[in-house]
Amino acid sequence: MRIIMAGFGTVGQGFAEVLHKKTDRLNRFNESVKIVAAFDSKSFVADENGLDPLELVERKKSTGSVGSEKLKSGIDVLDSVDYDVLVEVSPTNIKDGGAGLKHVEHALKNGKDVVTVNKGPLALKFSELNKLAEKKNALLRFEGSVGGAMPIINLCSENLKGERVKSIRGIFNGTCNFILSRMDKGLPFEQALKEAQQLGYAESDPSYDIDGIDTACKVVILANSIFRRNVTFSDVSITGITSVSAEAIALAAEHDMVIRLIGEVSDTVLEVSPRLIPLGHPLSVSGTLNIAQIRTDLAGPITVSGKGAGRIETASAILSDLIAIMDRRR
Ligand SMILES: NC(=O)c1ccc[n+]([C@@H]2O[C@H](COP(=O)([O-])OP(=O)(O)OC[C@H]3O[C@@H](n4cnc5c(N)ncnc54)[C@H](OP(=O)(O)O)[C@@H]3O)[C@@H](O)[C@H]2O)c1
Repeated sequence: MRIIMAGFGTVGQGFAEVLHKKTDRLNRFNESVKIVAAFDSKSFVADENGLDPLELVERKKSTGSVGSEKLKSGIDVLDSVDYDVLVEVSPTNIKDGGAGLKHVEHALKNGKDVVTVNKGPLALKFSELNKLAEKKNALLRFEGSVGGAMPIINLCSENLKGERVKSIRGIFNGTCNFILSRMDKGLPFEQALKEAQQLGYAESDPSYDIDGIDTACKVVILANSIFRRNVTFSDVSITGITSVSAEAIALAAEHDMVIRLIGEVSDTVLEVSPRLIPLGHPLSVSGTLNIAQIRTDLAGPITVSGKGAGRIETASAILSDLIAIMDRRR
């Protein structure tokens, strides 16, 4: 299994480390798994015999570049190296899908399997990409794009195959949940946001999280992949958390409630908004955890929770998708 990695930041490096760590487990598939090329925003490196994942991480950390060659475009790398799977972990771009969309489209067009956690291509062009994958007999997997390490997409589409999933409601953004949890303790929004930034949970431009955009991307991915809807980012009704006041939080607390940013999806609903959640309810979690309640017709409600971000945690979801592809291709 020959892998090309597009993007070598937090998640890309985490995935390289995980590949190294899980060599023995992967060897059980009687097929060697190797990275044959990797590129970041400016550089690339390729070797058909396989690159040492830890050396890539070391070089990226010490020089800021994954490779010594100057990158013209990611597409050039995809065209010049023989590979089986593209692991796409470049930045999410929700305006036009950015380079990530081009990489994913190009790989699928050439019949290559793709594992991605990049939400841009999926939130904007899910149905086109899926159709392309089907046409080219390629596999497109994206477990880590929603909830990071928390299993939800493959759980619903593989483990709960016989169920009709009626709805999914959940907390899909750890940054917002951290901020709201700190506001529960009496911190004003601005201070809670500052704390989240200092701890590395929030970006210097936090709008992607606090305006509900990140959660909306995830809701779209769930709607398309689990509910077989044909929706895109612009179809989501989105309210972020900037309008949640200290007064609203205090009033909620007086009634034994908390306010949480909830993403909800069903056959008819596609919404992101702050909601009142009774204390003790599974969705009243505090901190950066992600959690989802899946309502099904036979199994009843199922709740899953896990780390929604983190380099190794997110890489674990990529690894599980990669192994699923190896299983299918054997
Ligand atoms: N971080 C998480 O826990 C997490 C969880 C779930 C999903 N995700 C998703 O995973 C993806 C990667 O996240 P991250 O945290 O690893 O981001 P990151 O640390 O910013 O890394 C992004 C990587 O992509 C590279 N890149 C930028 N433009 C590129 C281009 N045109 N072609 C190829 N590579 C390019 C960057 O290159 P340089 O290094 O040269 O800048 C960097 O190596 C994002 O789509 C994110 O939404 C992340």
